[in-house]
Amino acid sequence: MAPRIDTRLLDTPDEAAAVLRRGGLVAFPTETVYGLGADATDADAVGRVFAAKGRPADNPLIVHVATTASISSVADLPAAALPLVHAFVPGPLTLVLPSRGVLPSSVTAGLPTVAVRVPSDPLAHAVLAATGRPVVAPSANRSGRPSPTTWQAAHADLDGRIDAVLRGAPTTVGVESTVVDVTGDVPVVLRPGGVSLEAIRAVAPATQMLDVADDARGARSPGLRHRHYAPTARVRVLASRADARPGADALYIGLEAPPDGYAHAVVPSTAEAYARLLFETLRDADRRGLSRVEALAVEEVGIGRALLDRLRRAASAHGADAGA
Ligand code: TXA
Ligand code: MG
Repeated sequence: MAPRIDTRLLDTPDEAAAVLRRGGLVAFPTETVYGLGADATDADAVGRVFAAKGRPADNPLIVHVATTASISSVADLPAAALPLVHAFVPGPLTLVLPSRGVLPSSVTAGLPTVAVRVPSDPLAHAVLAATGRPVVAPSANRSGRPSPTTWQAAHADLDGRIDAVLRGAPTTVGVESTVVDVTGDVPVVLRPGGVSLEAIRAVAPATQMLDVADDARGARSPGLRHRHYAPTARVRVLASRADARPGADALYIGLEAPPDGYAHAVVPSTAEAYARLLFETLRDADRRGLSRVEALAVEEVGIGRALLDRLRRAASAHGADAGA
């Protein structure tokens, strides 16, 4: 194990950029979740990202750049990408593109493609602009844990393992970016996220969802191989309120009012609010010492697709291998 390091708390993007430019690791906010940043051109720094998270080396990282124009410094932009770029960049969308091969191979886990994202969050933009280099940023959680949507969650997972945490606001989207592979004839969504399938199809009608059964070994989406989003508490997805098993050991989250008898309940008013609160609520169950989370399913439409994906992964995580 690496020796414990002193993790500084920062308040300005310039301080964060200075640490990144020295090869350091900094957790910083984006509109989706907090990312664990490192200089993507520095193989040693990239290696420390995998170590700090406990992330398997076969799971490639997303490269973050400040502007749409700088995407081409690391990747080619095929014609299939252009409608998505125009509609959703900057924003909670990640494009899997043909790599130009200019970054260390550990960034892409040896793949010929590279995942690239331009965050819309102003603080993230300021960090990237001041760094002036592409920055890898996986979610700033220990591998397998729920992604952090607050600086405190990033700090709780990575204190002593990274150089700094940039203290920003809680994230506004709350689930990660939508990952879309645009290297083939039609765009393929590898991971549902902050941009809905419906919105993507409005500009790229042929877009497909990855058929996970067809990709059982995770050939196209390596991140799907691994355990994800799990608190210590066991998560159960309720198809309807009638499936609820309330108890003093359980936390409830759902768009409908809970049955009586839960230790704690979170009732967001919209699917968007549910997505924003989900990961923090999973962490809250652990902080409260509760052993069960019961999460009411939502309609599989809009942000609901990403929300259900994260709920199902959190629910199936116990007993699986550790991941991203
Ligand atoms: O919203 C987000 O995307 C956040 C913020 C911090 O930007 N980042 C994030 O990174 O969620 P991470 O590492 O937790 O998830 C990256 C996902 C994984 O599922 C990984 O397998 C996939 O992107 N990925 C990365 N490069 C890829 C590639 N070349 N081909 C296919 N999938 C790739
Ligand atoms: Mg992650």
